[in-house]
Amino acid sequence: MQNDLLLKAARGEETERVPVWLMRQAGRILPGYRKVRASVKDFTELVKTPELACEVTLEPVNVLGVDAAIIFSDILVIPEAMGLPYQMLEAKGPYFEKTIKTVKDIEALRIGSLENWDYVTKAIKLTRKELGDKLPLLGFAGSPWTIFAYMVEGSGSKTFSVAKRMIYSNPVMAHSLLEKITETTIKYLEDQVEAGADLVQIFDSWGGVLGPDTYWEFSLKYISRICDALSKKAPVTVFPKGAYFAAEQLAKLNCRVIGLDWSVTPGEARKVLENKTLQGNMDPCLLYADTNTIRKAVNQMIKGFGTPNYIANLGHGVYPDTSVDSVKCFIDFVKEYKA
Ligand code: CP3
Repeated sequence: MQNDLLLKAARGEETERVPVWLMRQAGRILPGYRKVRASVKDFTELVKTPELACEVTLEPVNVLGVDAAIIFSDILVIPEAMGLPYQMLEAKGPYFEKTIKTVKDIEALRIGSLENWDYVTKAIKLTRKELGDKLPLLGFAGSPWTIFAYMVEGSGSKTFSVAKRMIYSNPVMAHSLLEKITETTIKYLEDQVEAGADLVQIFDSWGGVLGPDTYWEFSLKYISRICDALSKKAPVTVFPKGAYFAAEQLAKLNCRVIGLDWSVTPGEARKVLENKTLQGNMDPCLLYADTNTIRKAVNQMIKGFGTPNYIANLGHGVYPDTSVDSVKCFIDFVKEYKA
C-alpha cells in the first residue's frame, strides 16, 4: 500500500509521521457531500446506493488529504438488517417507527446476513477498486449497546432512560437482545473485511450513559466478543465515547487501537493504556477557534501522546458547521508536526 501510515501505527510500528483522519469526515462539512445528499430522496437512499456511497467516501481523501478513507454508511444499517428499519429525519436524526419493548419483539428480529447489507459490501468493493492501493479503507459498526440504545429508545436521547430502564428492570431480556445484536455485528464486520476493509472501528457512542458498575456487563463484554472474533482478520479500533472510566478494562480488550474523546489527557491515557495504539482526541469545538489556537492544540496533543502508537483524530465526529479550512489546518498541522 502506498500510504500505510495508519495501518502501521495501528500495528504498533514506527511511522515517518503521525497518520491523521477524522470521524465523520465523509459528511456535511464537504460541499460535494451536500450536493450528492440534495440529489437523493433521503439519507438511506444515499447509504444504499454503492456508487454514491463510494463517491462521498472518496471526497475527504481528495479534498482534505486524510490518511484513510472510512466507508460512507451508518451504524443503523444493523437494526434495519435485523428487521427494524429507521428513517433519518431532517435536523432531528434517527427515528424508528417500531421499537423493541417485549421478548416477542426480540424473537421477531433476525440475525442479519450478507443479503441484508450487501449494499455496504458492494460500496466497500467499489471504493477499494477506486482507491487502488493508495490508502487504507476503514469499515465500522456501532457497539451492541449503542445499537440496543437506538432499537429500544427509537431515537436519540439525552439520557437513554428508556434503554436503561430495560437493563435495570429486565436484564435477562436486555441480554437476549444484546446477544442477537452481537452475533449480527460479528458477521457484518467479517463481511466488511472480506469485501476489502483494512481495519474496523466499533463506535460505542452511548457507552458514557452507562457507569462503572454496568459498563462491562451491558457494553464491554459484547465489544470484547467482537474483538476476539475480528482481531483474527483485521486490526480493530474501539471508540468508547464518554466511557474512559473503564480504561483498565479497555486495556485488556483484544483490540489494537483505543479511540479517546477529549475527557482524558494524552499523558493520563498513555499510562493506563500503555499496550495500545491511541487515537484522538482533540475537542471538535476547537476547530471553531483561530488557526493559531488550533496549531497549538494539535502540537500539544501530539506531544502529549508521543509516537509511535498514535493516530491523530478528533475526540468525536467533526460537527457539520465546521469550516473546511479549519479541518484542513488540523490535518496539515498534524502532518507538519516535528518532535
Ligand atoms: O465517519 C464517516 O465519515 C463515515 C460515515 C458515518 C456516518 N455515520 C454518516 C452520517 C459514520 C461512521 C457514522 C456513524 C454513526 N452514526 C454514529 C457513531 C459515531 C458518532 O457520531 O458517535 C452514530 C451515533 C450514528 C447515528 C446517526 N447517524 C445520528 C445520531 C445521525 C444524526 C445526527 C447527525 O449527525 O446528523 C446520523 C446521520 C448521519 N450519519 C449523517 C451522516 C453524514 C448526516 C445525515 C444527513 O446527511 O442528513
